[in-house]
Amino acid sequence: MPSYGDQFLDKVVIVTGGARGIGRAIVTQFADCGAHVVCADVDTAAGQALAAGYQGRGEIVFQQCDAARAADCAATVEAAATRWGSVDILCNNVGIMPNNAYVPAHELPEAMWDLIMDVNLKSAFLMTHYAVPHMLARGGGVIINTASVQGLASAYNVSAYAASKGGMISLTRQLALDYAPHNIRVLAVAPGSVNTDLLRATTAAMTAEEMAAQYAAWGKPHPLGRIAEPEEIASVVLFLASDGASFMTGSTVCVDGGMMAKGVWAQ
Ligand SMILES: NC(=O)c1ccc[n+]([C@@H]2O[C@H](COP(=O)([O-])OP(=O)(O)OC[C@H]3O[C@@H](n4cnc5c(N)ncnc54)[C@H](O)[C@@H]3O)[C@@H](O)[C@H]2O)c1
Repeated sequence: MPSYGDQFLDKVVIVTGGARGIGRAIVTQFADCGAHVVCADVDTAAGQALAAGYQGRGEIVFQQCDAARAADCAATVEAAATRWGSVDILCNNVGIMPNNAYVPAHELPEAMWDLIMDVNLKSAFLMTHYAVPHMLARGGGVIINTASVQGLASAYNVSAYAASKGGMISLTRQLALDYAPHNIRVLAVAPGSVNTDLLRATTAAMTAEEMAAQYAAWGKPHPLGRIAEPEEIASVVLFLASDGASFMTGSTVCVDGGMMAKGVWAQ
């Protein structure tokens, strides 16, 4: 990770879905830069362990938060603002893709559609809704959304997930326009496959040999020939939140090992 000096020192950062996977890497990297970071997550055990075990430059505080619920989002923003005075950086990172949701749309229960849309997309609206007034009062801020390459091109049988990620990219553009006059930049990252629980969810019963084959298969569509580690997504999030990206807003940046650069005719 590049050195950001004191750029993030004492900044107040909220990360949804911060207890595991990409969110955990974002939380840790901001904290290592001296930020005050709220890890907002439903996984109390993982979130509390992360906060309690952290011994770096900044601090990590766990906040129990179902980011699909307005009351939890409001409480999370309020907790950060009460403790540290404001919110500088919001990372709308949370996302789910339950195992039993890999089905065509006519087999997807309405409740599953609603759950995925609420956790993956509505959460970004809710957190933004409650955090932006603090950014306006402070004179600026940054919002970084975690989208996916699945918002840009399609896999099979992921209708709700794909729609939520397409929505996230559209929401990013919209918020960027609306808040540019207020010095709030809004950007998204679109990761390819990343080595997290979300990706590994279908591999619980696999042998080590099967897992190795699975990792190779996941890596293959990426021109770099492998999947990403969570830290490789987090480091781009930090760059986008940094002064180095001061003239960027509204964009979705692919962090995908070249996947979206590849045409279907390329071998
Ligand atoms: N892993 C990938 O291959 C990949 C690829 C592209 C995009 N993404 C996106 O990256 C983001 C992070 O995914 P990940 O792979 O780190 O997933 P993950 O499953 O490893 O971690 C997700 C975290 O979100 C938390 N969470 C789940 N529901 C929540 C809720 N309602 N409220 C608050 N927290 C909740 C979980 O407890 C967990 O800590 C998601 O938006 C995902 O769609 C992941």
